[in-house]
Amino acid sequence: MATHPAARPIKGVHHAAYRCRDAEQTIWFYRDVLGLTNYTGVVIEAVPGTGEDDPYLHLFFQMGNGEFLAFFDAPGSADPDWFKRKESFDMHWAFEVDSEEDMLAMQERIDSYGVSAVGPVDHGFVRSIYMYDPNGVQVEVTYRMPQHDAILAKTQENFDDVLARWQARTRDQKVAKFGAEAIDRRSRHTAAA
Ligand SMILES: [Fe+2]
Repeated sequence: MATHPAARPIKGVHHAAYRCRDAEQTIWFYRDVLGLTNYTGVVIEAVPGTGEDDPYLHLFFQMGNGEFLAFFDAPGSADPDWFKRKESFDMHWAFEVDSEEDMLAMQERIDSYGVSAVGPVDHGFVRSIYMYDPNGVQVEVTYRMPQHDAILAKTQENFDDVLARWQARTRDQKVAKFGAEAIDRRSRHTAAA
């Protein structure tokens, strides 16, 4: 058996990053509509690591817990199609607020800017409102319901069984769609993308 160095604690998300179509448009949504006031950015002329000539503005918004949401405004390499509205399963971002009252107040605020925030949708452990940012990404604002921790703890009790049944049920479908090699965990992490 191979031995591996011990994992070190992952403290949280430093930043999650994706493309924006336009920095000012994105600042309008995240600062003016959602109220993230602590933001900054840098213009970088070439991609670090590869040296590729693709000037971009790297934009950062900081949230209340110190974590960042980041964007790349890089018109040279951007594909306009990327900014079409994406399915929530493909990508979405959930901001957490403290309470139902805060979520509902945010819904009123977001609506007052003409951005339609739909919901709330009750997920049993969280309740959420949903909207789209100017980049086609679904944004969720959510709060933890009182039973949040208990529900998650309960699902953990039998998750190994749930996973095993799910894998057995979907294996053939995935092999047909992706190929057996593509879903083998080792080949996925060692083969070129
Ligand atoms: Fe979500």
